[in-house]
Amino acid sequence: EPHGVLVVGSITADVTAFSARFPRRGETVLGDDFTLVLGGKGANQAVAAARAGAPTWLAGCVGRDPFREIVMDGLRSHGVELDEVRTVDGRTGVAHIRVDASGENDIVITPLANADLSPAMVDASIAATAGKAGVLLLQLEVPAATTCHAAKAGRAAGLTVVLDPAPAQPLPDDVWPHIDLVTPNESEATELTGVEVTDAASAERAGRWFLDRGVGHALITLGAGGAVSVTAAGARHFPAYEVTAVDTTAAGDAFTGSLGAALAAGDDLERAINRGMAAGALATTRPGASPSLPGRDEVDALMSGTPLEGAA
Ligand code: RIB
Ligand code: NA
Repeated sequence: EPHGVLVVGSITADVTAFSARFPRRGETVLGDDFTLVLGGKGANQAVAAARAGAPTWLAGCVGRDPFREIVMDGLRSHGVELDEVRTVDGRTGVAHIRVDASGENDIVITPLANADLSPAMVDASIAATAGKAGVLLLQLEVPAATTCHAAKAGRAAGLTVVLDPAPAQPLPDDVWPHIDLVTPNESEATELTGVEVTDAASAERAGRWFLDRGVGHALITLGAGGAVSVTAAGARHFPAYEVTAVDTTAAGDAFTGSLGAALAAGDDLERAINRGMAAGALATTRPGASPSLPGRDEVDALMSGTPLEGAA
């Protein structure tokens, strides 16, 4: 069984300003800090999977500009394989992020080079990682047509296909039967299914919407409320690990990336979900996207109830 992970998705430079509160419309506020680091949901998932111990490839596009070096250095330093990252003409994608003192964020993403990731590139990356990757991770920051193609081609190639439908957008009905596992948060689940997700019961109803459309397994994340797993066999609530959150950026990516790595390693579903939950919780305890993603030892420590010194 191949135990690696192939991620098809976005790569951005995250430019983040931290301030006590968000400015009102038209207002200027003074910030406390500023960072420029690797981000993008695809890249973050790849870093999370690599840090969880899976051999990990990222199929994505960067531009020819100074941000390219920042994102490539970030990927390299976290152990992501770079063979499937393409450099295209134009500029590297940017996420413009603000974080307030409570750890909430808002984000404007400009895709730039990410818009060039094509179905043909995906096919080439699936072929290049055949026999090595067993799990395919997808999100929605690259063209939807590319993501939908990846789901179909990945399924046809025998990969376990995982979609984090973030940021939420409507998808064609014919993609759902190619998805083994979908991992929306509450707002994404609400937007996609029309079911207002506020608690475990409504999350279960939203989960059924995906199953009715052909998805094998829906896993709705509820932040501090944990996650609800829905399969044909029934629904189950997984409580969250308790931590003190300072910045929720990339928590969802940590969850899905670690879960994907655990599935690729052959962990059973319950253990894989708990690994994802622990990684997602740890990612909220540190500022930023890729730098906040936890390593395997920290996840093990949180799961066994003995957080590492300095973590959590
Ligand atoms: O999920 C977090 C990511 O979303 C950030 O890294 C930012 O790049 C945005 O795309
Ligand atoms: Na974070």
